[in-house]
Amino acid sequence: MTAALAIDNLSVVYDHFHALKDVDIEVSTGESFGLVGESGSGKSTLLRAVAGLAPVSGGSISIHEEPLVGSRRSKAFYRRVQMVFQDPYGSLHPRQTVDRLLLEPLAIHGIADGERRISRALDEVGLGNGFRFRYPHQLSGGQRQRVAIARALIVEPSILLLDEPTSALDASVQAEVLNLLEQIRSERNLTFVMVSHDLGVITHMCERLAVMRNGAVVERLSSENLAKGALSEEYTRNLMLASKGFVRRGAPAETVS
Ligand SMILES: Nc1ncnc2c1ncn2[C@@H]1O[C@H](COP(=O)(O)OP(=O)(O)OP(=O)(O)O)[C@@H](O)[C@H]1O
Ligand SMILES: [Mg+2]
Repeated sequence: MTAALAIDNLSVVYDHFHALKDVDIEVSTGESFGLVGESGSGKSTLLRAVAGLAPVSGGSISIHEEPLVGSRRSKAFYRRVQMVFQDPYGSLHPRQTVDRLLLEPLAIHGIADGERRISRALDEVGLGNGFRFRYPHQLSGGQRQRVAIARALIVEPSILLLDEPTSALDASVQAEVLNLLEQIRSERNLTFVMVSHDLGVITHMCERLAVMRNGAVVERLSSENLAKGALSEEYTRNLMLASKGFVRRGAPAETVS
């Protein structure tokens, strides 16, 4: 299995603050990989570094075995790697209709056949064509996040970086959106790197995960071992205890679906 994403010895420094320290992470093609850790531990910084949005001071990042050079990312990079954030308000322009929002990435990448692709993308995320001419404020939080997912997927990336993609949603809507993501991942053999505060979400969605603290990876484990409590760091155990609903949702037979 080839690595979709390989991060070696990555460091990020903001002014004099070391936000990431020698981080190594490898994610296989088609895998769903989780990142957990307390607030400020560097999870978003890691995704941002991959996307070329953080000041990398050392180490390397490769996508499908091709090293990324510097912080500039090519158009070709964004066809392969897309991000979905927690707050779709921040990523969806308020004055653009869903149609425009979905057309924009197609225009950027010179992809023809917009009509058909937009219809298909809206279908794929469970919103019909009836949503095409709505504005973001005319959508519910869950619908907005579906639009953000459609917008990421419309350029047919192979890797999705998901930063707390459902944390702003109610539990039932969260479960729907997570199930949608999982369904799309298996249909398209996508690779996910997903950040969540909720360890129940991570065990539901990801096969393996890394635990971060103060900019470093302190533990790597499978979701299975996390759910069983077979972990080696006290810090991870505390995260598990602090994660709301983990005990309820983390039980092996019961998931968020
Ligand atoms: N642009 C920036 N300038 C300076 N420091 C930053 C910047 N962005 C992040 N940091 C710092 O880097 C550290 C890691 O931040 P990061 O956003 O990666 O944390 P996180 O694990 O995603 O936290 P959360 O769970 O709260 O989202 C924090 O201490 C943060 O204050
Ligand atoms: Mg974050």
